[in-house]
Amino acid sequence: MSYEFITTRIEADKVGIVTLNRPKQLNALNGELMDELGAALKAFDADPKIGCMIVTGSEKAFAAGADIGAMASWGFSDVYGADYITRNWETIRSIRKPVIAAVSGFCLGGGCELAMMCDFIIAADNARFGQPEIKLGIIPGAGGTQRLPRAVGKAKAMDLVLTGRMMNADEAERAGLASRVVAVDKLMDEVLAAALMICDYGQLATMAAKESVNRAFESGLSDGIMFERRLFHALFATQDQKEGMDAFVNKRKANFVNA
Ligand code: HXC
Repeated sequence: MSYEFITTRIEADKVGIVTLNRPKQLNALNGELMDELGAALKAFDADPKIGCMIVTGSEKAFAAGADIGAMASWGFSDVYGADYITRNWETIRSIRKPVIAAVSGFCLGGGCELAMMCDFIIAADNARFGQPEIKLGIIPGAGGTQRLPRAVGKAKAMDLVLTGRMMNADEAERAGLASRVVAVDKLMDEVLAAALMICDYGQLATMAAKESVNRAFESGLSDGIMFERRLFHALFATQDQKEGMDAFVNKRKANFVNA
């Protein structure tokens, strides 16, 4: 499948990589790009040989936000009528295999919201995160006011959303938005190594782990723990649980079969 605003490739036969590709606009996210991103992630998710995905941008920009030029003339009837955001941005939420955001450069507005929809963020040391929508007379609209406080707490989320300032990679890691920070020239090596590590585990367990962690954001503690417990019990019905534990007991490498 060929795309206009993204490129895709598969590394080591098992990691699906989507690169946002509107360099002149700092990867500003328009509707077509989001359609393509959703289609590419769904195709990787459906491919049994893919165990993990990476979404990335350029060294200068992961994405500088939703496309302001496209939005500038829209009125309420346009955005509500077309179900802007909900229609295609949230496809990523239905992806069951892990998705890592590899972020360098600007990661702003809808770009930051997209990164937060991924399962975790590995940041290059030149990454700059922010929700500058307030400067445009709007607010974050793709989950930023909800996911950012869950990631960094109310104080810093309010600071970022109300002032529109950017935070650097170190601050983002300290605050819990990025899981790690690496030198910009090592970013893809590091993210790929993490993705390959994930690919070595059984897909049923990685999907269950992702689903269970995500449940923490959708439920109270008792319900979340019950959800986790049921998935934990269910994994004892898989061949991969037998294989993983037998491999440990017999001091050999596990060979998971995703069953
Ligand atoms: C459209 C954008 C853009 C954007 C940058 N460009 N961000 N175009 N939408 N979000 C374009 C510029 O117009 C310019 O095009 C080119 O990319 C390079 O940008 P410069 O501004 O010249 O680069 P620089 O001086 O390095 O500044 C980088 C920047 C700045 C700090 C990131 O571009 C900026 O502030 N961008 C807007 C960031 C923002 O407000 N994001 C939130 C968007 S609202 P030309 O043609 O002039 O070369 C949003 C809403 C989300 O995301 C709601 C739900 C999705």
